[in-house]
Amino acid sequence: MDNLTIIQHPLVQHKLTQLRNKQTDHYTFRRLTKELTAFMLYEVMVDYPTKEVAVETPLMQTTAKKLAREISFVLILRAGLGMLDGLLELVPTARVGHVGLYRDEKTLRAVEYYKKFPENIAETGVILVDPMLATGGSAVAAVDLLKEAGVQEIKFVCMVAAPEGIEALHKRHPDVHIYAAAKDQRLNKNGYILPGLGDAGDRLFGTK
Ligand code: PRP
Ligand code: URA
Repeated sequence: MDNLTIIQHPLVQHKLTQLRNKQTDHYTFRRLTKELTAFMLYEVMVDYPTKEVAVETPLMQTTAKKLAREISFVLILRAGLGMLDGLLELVPTARVGHVGLYRDEKTLRAVEYYKKFPENIAETGVILVDPMLATGGSAVAAVDLLKEAGVQEIKFVCMVAAPEGIEALHKRHPDVHIYAAAKDQRLNKNGYILPGLGDAGDRLFGTK
């Protein structure tokens, strides 16, 4: 599939394996999420547009490249928060937007409770993040909101994606490129990804 990239880098895969392990405690899970996200972002931005600028080195005037557009990271709350430090490590100047969504436990539908985007978001390159793409309901709802705000180019980055979520997001938003560290087998009857890594929010924040 053209707009799906599974990042196979050995460091990404090694950290994902540790994240999957149920013995991994919440503070190690947080650290690994940060590290894995930074490695993923490095790959996600491999084709990010650059522009030539003039720069004066200590020795002479020259031209060199810089990112062509500002970047906005948009986090799907709450678990997307766990990815922020890894993103900012690589792009500390980025703006950050938030979308509050939770899945209704019975219907599995995404329910919106918060939204705050950078004012100039439509002029920036947007990277939307959430550790898990399960039914795809949360990612679809977040992309809907970004497009309503005028954003044209969106990359979606998750750690684990289910085939069902990939299909749902591609069906509704075929222009959104999905980056994941793994495409897993399927969802269980409660909408959890198998084999997955459990509830990312609970594992990140130690709430269960
Ligand atoms: C989890 C996860 C995603 C969503 C994925 O969040 O972080 O946002 O589920 O599932 P979907 O693809 O079926 O929508 P959850 O609703 O558990 O909320 P939380 O991050 O606040 O724990
Ligand atoms: N949300 C999670 O945190 N984990 C899953 O497996 C599915 C949705």
